[in-house]
Amino acid sequence: MKIRSLFLLGLVLLTGSVTAAGTSVEYPEGFRTWYHVKSMVIQPGHPLEDPFGGIHHIYANYKALQGLKSGDYPDGAVLVFDLLDYQSSNNALVEGKRKLIGVMERDAERFAATGGWGFEGFGGGDPSKRLVTDGGQGCYGCHTSQKDSQFVFSKLRD
Ligand code: HEC
Repeated sequence: MKIRSLFLLGLVLLTGSVTAAGTSVEYPEGFRTWYHVKSMVIQPGHPLEDPFGGIHHIYANYKALQGLKSGDYPDGAVLVFDLLDYQSSNNALVEGKRKLIGVMERDAERFAATGGWGFEGFGGGDPSKRLVTDGGQGCYGCHTSQKDSQFVFSKLRD
């Protein structure tokens, strides 16, 4: 009897941890070698200045690139918003330190509550500094304006 309840307890704990891991976005290891989609500078006074002021570059892994082309993102597609500070130097805007990275990871089932995308931010690009505390609802709330392109703002260019 005792062994059986211990076994059941173990099973419950195991299921719990699998579920928790299942809803978190993975750190996008090696994203700097992915496809560069576009860049943009957000300056003071822009509505997105807080917290997205700076220079950002957007990267897509191979599956996300397929999605940008077809408009349909397979599970495993990942998009990264790499945000850096900038300094103005000799009439040029020069990249500074990384402020954060924003990540969208596609899994239609696991992230069904936020349009099939898991949203996460990593402070300074540090894998241990997760920024999202509301399950991604805040991010998703703004990305819903892009419902017709599966919640993705960026478009491919040549
Ligand atoms: C107030 C609106 C707003 C909020 C909130 C927001 N985003 Fe975005 N996001 C944008 C816009 C606009 C772009 C497109 C930027 C560009 O064109 O370079 C974008 C682009 C992205 C991209 C690149 C893919 C794409 O859609 O173009 C990722 C990844 C991303 N955001 C992640 C996040 C994460 C993670 C959060 C929450 C921590 C978040 N965003 C919150 C407006 C928002």
